[in-house]
Amino acid sequence: MLLMKAINEYAWWQTGIIYEVYPRSFQDSNGDGVGDIHGIIQRLDYLRWLGVTAIWLTPMYPSPMKDFGYDIMDYTAIDPLFGDMKDFDELLEQVHKRNMKILLDLVPNHTSDQHPWFLESKSSKDNPKRDWYIWKDACTDGSRPNNWLAMFGGSAWEWDDDTQQYYYHAFLKEQPDLNWRNQEVRNAMYDVMRFWLDKGVDGFRVDVMWHLVKDAQYRDNPVNPAYQETMSSYNKLLPVYSTDQPEVHDIVREMRKVLDEYRERIMIAEIYLPVHKLVRYYGDDGNGAQLPFNFLLLTIDWDARKIAAGIDEYEGVLPLQGWPNWVLSNHDQPRIVSRIGKEQARIAVILLLTLRGTPTLYYGDEIEMRDVPISDEDIKDPQGLNMPGKNLSRDPARTPMQWDASEYAGFTTNRPWLPLAKDYKRKNVEQEKKFEHSMLGLYKEVLSLREAEPSLLVGKYVPVLAESPNILAYKRCAEGHDAFLIVLNLSHQPVYFRPKHLKAKGKVEMGTIPELKGKEFNGKINLAGDEGVIIRLEE
Ligand code: GLC
Repeated sequence: MLLMKAINEYAWWQTGIIYEVYPRSFQDSNGDGVGDIHGIIQRLDYLRWLGVTAIWLTPMYPSPMKDFGYDIMDYTAIDPLFGDMKDFDELLEQVHKRNMKILLDLVPNHTSDQHPWFLESKSSKDNPKRDWYIWKDACTDGSRPNNWLAMFGGSAWEWDDDTQQYYYHAFLKEQPDLNWRNQEVRNAMYDVMRFWLDKGVDGFRVDVMWHLVKDAQYRDNPVNPAYQETMSSYNKLLPVYSTDQPEVHDIVREMRKVLDEYRERIMIAEIYLPVHKLVRYYGDDGNGAQLPFNFLLLTIDWDARKIAAGIDEYEGVLPLQGWPNWVLSNHDQPRIVSRIGKEQARIAVILLLTLRGTPTLYYGDEIEMRDVPISDEDIKDPQGLNMPGKNLSRDPARTPMQWDASEYAGFTTNRPWLPLAKDYKRKNVEQEKKFEHSMLGLYKEVLSLREAEPSLLVGKYVPVLAESPNILAYKRCAEGHDAFLIVLNLSHQPVYFRPKHLKAKGKVEMGTIPELKGKEFNGKINLAGDEGVIIRLEE
């Protein structure tokens, strides 16, 4: 029989709660309208109170900010907009003092076009760093080396007049891709990792990991038969040759080796791929990324049957050593409330925090922040600017955190870099803290329950078949501990849960609304629209 490990034998990232901080929008401390490191420090106690155990910070490195920090000029420094290295060291110390962990964004696929490496590479064809980036001759008729498209619109090839070659950029032309087939590039990036690991950071969220290696022959990508005009122009082609190449797994392994030179450091990998491809990033025998981001809940239709099938597919293909993880929102996607509505967002929280695996929360989701409409003249995001009219800007999901009802929501003392939500006076942390039954209260309640209950923290996931197509139900159980049954109504109408094969009794421990608490479960339960419950089962 497989004996359950004691909770303290699990790694910190297996039982932890990760929280994504988008530093520009979290807390400003110097009144310039942009969040900064000192601001984050001021809010650490809030995060600790909420139950967060690890913070992932999106890039704060020196950058021309064409892609808001994902265009890096110097991998081992801090942009003055956010503070300096002393501030960062203080943040690290303050985070660790509170027994929390810190994860930095590592952006290895591309640099800024202002990075000294690229400036050298661009300076001449025989510069020693020429091969650090991807340079190609034009075709004999002068056209681009192939048909590859950039994520932020247009071709992925940019002509350089001085040296008469094209360079490749998967994102903006100001974000040239590094050539990961070059060993010097790899070593340089591994040294970047060591720089931060030596300082004591607990790991990285690796940006666009599935992009790192491109087809050795640079073959044309095929046309996407499912493309529609409303989509990003990037979707015109299927990126089969420009992403997810077999050789990427060597790099994932090498990165992991660097992490393993240290103790308990991890790598979360940003990967948008179908699950069977995604799980390959765990590596063989667990020698890859500990947590390849699972974006199922971010991308799937909000439909109980589809989600149930998706969860089972994921659980089913996970390698033996693979630890699951779940995400509802991030800084690149519409917020959960804007995707599925306020009522269902409460269901989503219970789902996120009771599925097996490590959850990642996105700042502001806990106070029900929704996407804020941004007027044309205020759009900052290059994805929105380059492909106008398609509603692709990511700004609406990146607006300032709403802390209180004061002017500028306690985020800043000046005009914030992106507009605040108009309802911030009612919807903010201070206000939500006052009401136990607010979204914040719900987060706090599920997080505390999860922390206290081994079944929810590390127990098995057992799907429960519900006859109604609107119900999502599953059990979580760990040997020697109370088991839980989670029943979620993904519709606005009442549902009647009468599972045929489940002989169980219990009591509702908590639900989407307080009135559900204490309700008996005798093998069946009725739920109103948008209701969900966590039932503590009796032996
Ligand atoms: C990732 C980031 C996104 C960025 C892109 C290019 O997808 O999450 O914000 O624009 O990479 O670095």
